[in-house]
Amino acid sequence: MKGSIAVIAGDGIGPEIMKSAVAVLDVVNKKFGHEFATTEALASSAAYDKYGVHLPPETIATCEKSDAILFGAVGGPVNDQESPRWKDAEKNVILGLRKHFDLFANLRPLKVWPGTEVFSTLRPEFITGMDVLIVRELVSGIYFGARERFEQNGKPAARDTSVYAWDEIERALRVGFEAAMMRKKRLTVVDKANVLETSRLWREVAREVAKDFPEVQMEFMFVDNAAMQLARAPLAFDVIVTENMFGDILSDLGGAIVGSLGLLPSASLNGKKFGLYEPSHGSAPDIAGKGVANPTAQILSLALLLRYTYGLEKEAAAIESAIQSAWKAGEKTRDLGGTLSTEEFTTAVVKCLA
Ligand code: IPM
Ligand code: MG
Repeated sequence: MKGSIAVIAGDGIGPEIMKSAVAVLDVVNKKFGHEFATTEALASSAAYDKYGVHLPPETIATCEKSDAILFGAVGGPVNDQESPRWKDAEKNVILGLRKHFDLFANLRPLKVWPGTEVFSTLRPEFITGMDVLIVRELVSGIYFGARERFEQNGKPAARDTSVYAWDEIERALRVGFEAAMMRKKRLTVVDKANVLETSRLWREVAREVAKDFPEVQMEFMFVDNAAMQLARAPLAFDVIVTENMFGDILSDLGGAIVGSLGLLPSASLNGKKFGLYEPSHGSAPDIAGKGVANPTAQILSLALLLRYTYGLEKEAAAIESAIQSAWKAGEKTRDLGGTLSTEEFTTAVVKCLA
């Protein structure tokens, strides 16, 4: 198969872990006889230095010419957030790309891989075999509603608006139901329907969509309870589908439960199989440039890209099992208790895959 992938390495550890993923892609090309080409595009600080903006039209154009975006990480040092180079970098780049490409379905798999149970905040018996998929609506709700500052009783007040249209809810829910059909056929719709009107609409839509998926066992859960249940008994979940804001919060909670942030990939898809694939972790400026970052989430994001954009299940699974084989052979980066550098671990994965 032929294809073109836009590569946005971004800030901090982004370029280091992206190098690993591109090395793995080279092996996939050779082993499976594909011709996937990559084109690098600038975003965040690198784009700011060259063009004066975080998400330049040149980068959008490169992405538009590609089948998918493999994305590293963006964001600057915590203490430097107010400088123009970093101010709103994450928001401008990530939200900008999500909106521009209408990436409404954010898939965040929370998987505990064999041997990584010790990194969880929970005892092994609660998380061994954990395999939850969060489907987060990504281009609407309170993230994209009107924001306002005004005055009330002579003092500043602020307002953020959450708007959801039927179709926006329906397409996100369908992704959740379809994913459930390929898994354990269980779907938890998370909302705050005891308070919010948008949540009540989510429930109405869910009941309609559920008619098309009679095999899926659907349940509703309030978001506060869902947070508690996820921390209490994560093995009880299969697919969780929810609005933008709740999905943001629950996926970080899920990340803590899985343990190592370095292991979590994500996919953000539109309706045409175009997607942005990125690690769930950030740019980790504190360890940037040291060559010690764990590239696993970035490599697993590449696996998701092959699976969802190109439908290459065999290739995706081969990458996932190469990582597991490397671990089994004791090849681990420092965050997982090993001694390997980013590059050494990548070499180990490449060997297992080749
Ligand atoms: C995420 C991040 C983003 C979000 C930020 C960086 C805008 O937290 O992808 O979860 O809130 O969606
Ligand atoms: Mg988040």
